Amino acid sequence: MSKITVINHPLIQHKLSILRDKNTPSKQFKELISEIGMLMCYEATRDLELMDCEVETPICTAKVKKLSGKKLAIVPILRAGLGMVDGVTALIPSARIGHIGLYRDPETLQPVEYYCKLPHDIEERDVIVVDPMCATGGSAIDAISLIKKRGPKNIKFMCTIAAPEGLKALQAAHPDVNIYCAALDDCLNDHGYIVPGLGDAGDRIFGTK
Ligand code: PRP
Ligand code: URA
Repeated sequence: MSKITVINHPLIQHKLSILRDKNTPSKQFKELISEIGMLMCYEATRDLELMDCEVETPICTAKVKKLSGKKLAIVPILRAGLGMVDGVTALIPSARIGHIGLYRDPETLQPVEYYCKLPHDIEERDVIVVDPMCATGGSAIDAISLIKKRGPKNIKFMCTIAAPEGLKALQAAHPDVNIYCAALDDCLNDHGYIVPGLGDAGDRIFGTK
C-alpha cells in the first residue's frame, strides 16, 4: 500500500491558512500555491539517490555527493497543477515538464482528458505529478494511469489539500504511488468540493471566477 505523508511544516501551515481565506486575491493565491509547491518538493525529494564525487575547492579535493541517474519529470495536471510548477522547478531546474489536461465534468465529477504531452524519455525518469487538489481522486488516478502507460521508473503524487475519499481511491487504484499532501481535510460536499478546502483552485489561480 502506498505511503501518505502529510507535510505539515509550520511555514506550509501558515501559507495554507492564507490560501484557504476566500478574501485572498488571485495574485497572492498564485504566489502561495507556488511557494507551498516548493516547500513540499523539498520534503518529497528527500529519498533521491546520491552518488559520491570529488570537486576541487580552492583549498583541496573534497568528497561530495551529487544527485545520481536521470533527472526528474514534473507533470502538472492542468489547469491548477500549473500553479505548482514554478516552485518545484526553482528547486529542480533540470526537471523536464510534462502536461496532462483533465477537467472534472461538473455533473458526473468524472475527469475528462483533453491533453497529454510527456517528456520523450519519461521511462528513464522519476515522475512527480502535481495538482493542488485531490477531491474524489479521479483526476489523479487518470493522470497517473496515463503516465504509467509510458513506464516511468517511479511516480509520486503531490497535492496541497486532499480529501479522505480521494486518498482512499488513489491508494486503491495505484498502491505503488506514494502521496504527499500539505493537509488532509474532512470530507467532500455534495458538489465534490473539499471541505473546508479552498474552493476551486484553478479559478482562484487564474482568476476565472
Ligand atoms: C480540479 C483540481 C483537480 C481536480 C480534483 O481541477 O485541480 O485536478 O479538480 O478533483 P478530483 O479529485 O475529484 O478529480 P478541475 O477539474 O476543476 O480543472 P481546472 O484545474 O482546469 O480548474
Ligand atoms: N477541485 C477544486 O479545485 N477544489 C475542490 O475542492 C475540489 C476539486
